[in-house]
Amino acid sequence: MPTHLTIHTAEPGPVIDRHIFGHFAEHLGRCIYDGLWVGESSPVPHVRGWRRDLVAALKQIQIPNLRWPGGCYADDYHWRDGIGPREKRPRRINAHWGGVVESNAVGTHEFLDLCEQLGCEPYLAGNVGSGTPRELREWVEYCNATAGSLAEERAANGHRDPWKVRLWGIGNENWGCGGNMTAEQYSAELRRYSTYTRDFPGAPLMRVGCGANGDDFRWTDVVMRDGAKGPFGGPMIQGLSLHYYTVPGSWARKHPASPFDAAGWKTVMALGWKMEAIVRGHRAIMDRYDPSGAIALVVDEWGSWYEVEPGTNPGFLYQQQTVRDAVLAALTLNIFINHCERVRIANLAQTVNVLQAVALTEEGGGRLVLTPTWDVLGLYLPHYDAKRLPVHSDAATLQHDGLSYPAVSATASLAADNSVTVTVCNTDPAASVEITLALTGRTPAVADARVLASSLLTACNTFDQPRAVTTRPLDGVRVNGQRVSVTLPPGSVAALHFA
Ligand code: AHR
Repeated sequence: MPTHLTIHTAEPGPVIDRHIFGHFAEHLGRCIYDGLWVGESSPVPHVRGWRRDLVAALKQIQIPNLRWPGGCYADDYHWRDGIGPREKRPRRINAHWGGVVESNAVGTHEFLDLCEQLGCEPYLAGNVGSGTPRELREWVEYCNATAGSLAEERAANGHRDPWKVRLWGIGNENWGCGGNMTAEQYSAELRRYSTYTRDFPGAPLMRVGCGANGDDFRWTDVVMRDGAKGPFGGPMIQGLSLHYYTVPGSWARKHPASPFDAAGWKTVMALGWKMEAIVRGHRAIMDRYDPSGAIALVVDEWGSWYEVEPGTNPGFLYQQQTVRDAVLAALTLNIFINHCERVRIANLAQTVNVLQAVALTEEGGGRLVLTPTWDVLGLYLPHYDAKRLPVHSDAATLQHDGLSYPAVSATASLAADNSVTVTVCNTDPAASVEITLALTGRTPAVADARVLASSLLTACNTFDQPRAVTTRPLDGVRVNGQRVSVTLPPGSVAALHFA
């Protein structure tokens, strides 16, 4: 039985904000050091310390924003540690992640230089857990002010012009590593910190409050009620975050990234699809307090989280990526696109060498490998800032371990050049699926069709076989009037582009 997808091309909906394809780089394991940053004396080719091949790979998928410096690290980070001459910066212990010595070689100037090299927006996470409103206020002023002592200090440190950083997180996971606060406590802190997190000329801020852990809907309810507005109704935040990871097994005994069998594949799909109910639930609460949709839902940490690879530091969260993670990425991005009225920023955790990374680098070495998740982000490029199109699907619902998820998940968008892109994934690891697409209101001409799939479900890219899993042309696309038919292989992600 084919799956029928009807795409209403004459009914463009809201814009799919390119920022939902954002990334996250924490001072954790080998994400920054020995990942993105190799340092200025490294034999690995770099531009001012940032690894050249990695920057090029991230530019290829046009990463729109990069969140930094954490994560849990953010609420233990004091920005003054990372400015001024590098050799004079304090060496701290990264207590959250492996207890390693943090040299502070990468600080504000270096990170913002990386964002300039990438052509992406920085998203700085402020310290609420162990910081002060004054410290956060001064960091904003240091980055964004045009005059005054902090702007002069910035200039003396090498950057005369303000960076005009727009995206600021007011803490991270303050219900946990960011201070173990209650929602009521955090709401009060949020109002205090937001008050002093000021706009400077030409640099209005988007303040992102710390949102819930997964399906903790009470947290969102309390923060929207008590923290999102000041006593006179003025807005305290423009965004509220949400963190949800796909963790097969339990936090104490996570499954490995590989090997896994068909049941292991399904577990990840089913847990990943929980994101749909989680986003829906938070969105409903936000709709109640903020019916105009002014406050964005910012899913600034998402992705798969497995047991670390054998022999690696448990505090470094280094894991492989298989084709299963690529399908998980597509499934999740489709959820964000389907809720793009409210979900306007999201950040995959994390960029390199940590969790669901888009790239892995050889420890202390020069080789780089791009994961299948990187390829999926490439397939989604045409959705950036395009208008979402309604998709009606009769896809079957699959059941696993008491959870359900769709056998086929699809999204579509209309770009400014009037082209239509349909991204679709087959979540079934064992069966191919025949898809028929009806594009109402137009006679489709297929400009491009690509697919990511592998006959081996555990297939991954390695330093020896760096492109074992990648996209290839999707063969067998048949057009008959307004209808398009194609067969998707088991466990695959495809993008079809219609001129
Ligand atoms: O991404 C790894 C960690 O996961 C982050 O530091 C934290 O915010 C979350 O718990």
